[in-house]
Amino acid sequence: MSQKKIDKQMKQIEDKRAKSRIFKKDSSFLKAEENVFDVPTLKLLYSFANKGYINELGGSISTGKEANVFYATGNEGEVAVKIYRINSSTFKAMDPYILKDPRFTHIRHSRKDIIFAWTQKEYQNLLRISKAGIRAPRPITCDRNVLIMEFMGENGVAYPSLKDVKMDDEDARIFYDQIIEDMRRMYVRASLVHADLSEYNILIDIEKGEAVIIDVGQAVTLNHPNAREFLLRDVENIKRFFRKYGIEEETKSILEQIKQKKEEDIIVEPDETDVKAADEKTSTDEETGTDEETRTDENISADEETGTDEEMNAGIPEKEND
Ligand SMILES: Nc1ncnc2c1ncn2[C@@H]1O[C@H](COP(=O)(O)OP(=O)(O)O)[C@@H](O)[C@H]1O
Ligand SMILES: [Mg+2]
Repeated sequence: MSQKKIDKQMKQIEDKRAKSRIFKKDSSFLKAEENVFDVPTLKLLYSFANKGYINELGGSISTGKEANVFYATGNEGEVAVKIYRINSSTFKAMDPYILKDPRFTHIRHSRKDIIFAWTQKEYQNLLRISKAGIRAPRPITCDRNVLIMEFMGENGVAYPSLKDVKMDDEDARIFYDQIIEDMRRMYVRASLVHADLSEYNILIDIEKGEAVIIDVGQAVTLNHPNAREFLLRDVENIKRFFRKYGIEEETKSILEQIKQKKEEDIIVEPDETDVKAADEKTSTDEETGTDEETRTDENISADEETGTDEEMNAGIPEKEND
């Protein structure tokens, strides 16, 4: 038998083993989710199992509009597996965030490519946010529509969302201050605006008394044309949530705090290699392309707006009336 043939057979055996291993404990997984995941996604999960990222896929943590999050254990311990659904019809909601992001100007504009780029973007944003000294899930790996990251919780139980945490005014003040500091670090150090920050996308590690920032797929760089508007919306969300704990602060003053540079700040350089990897990844996925939806010209023209790294670190470009 040729080496190639042996390799192929070995791979088939490995795939089978992985399949039985990761789905054994929760055999309802495939049944319950069979309409959610396509075959390439399942194959990708098997390949993550072969590489040891997943040893056992556990229960569902969340079913959102675009993605499902599962608990799993692997060689790195407890992990969260976020799977963007290719068939989700709400992918169009992602357009304004990704099409104008200067880091993602080269992606092919099919529905699947946008989802793959989106997943890649969440991975990169998590990396940048972690490097900026913000508590957030450490990204472990990603490919196509699947992102594997550190599980924020303990013994299979995820930390509660800020919205579900019972706290008094004093605790609320501590979390509020932390969250504003996280927004500052995100802005000044990572040159990012979260763009979907609310009590739903902040988890609370009660034991350590720490806020954890999650769900950063839509976070944009400061030179994104809508960065200002997204930042303002984030601030208003945080203000609204903390108002019931007696915290009232002017938007203007909060924005000043967020944009304030401090001596100890270390700027996270936009990582060139990350962006290149993203481009390469999306282009190698072409072999699986089938019924692609080609994008219209009006959306493609949004890609013209690119920016340099210098601009990216200079804050949101000021308007005349600021
Ligand atoms: N790394 C993680 N560790 C633990 N739980 C997580 C993690 N990531 C997400 N979750 C859980 O899954 C939910 C949905 O995840 P999120 O990233 O916000 O996706 P969506 O885009 O669907 O809102 C979160 O509210 C949280 O409960
Ligand atoms: Mg969320």
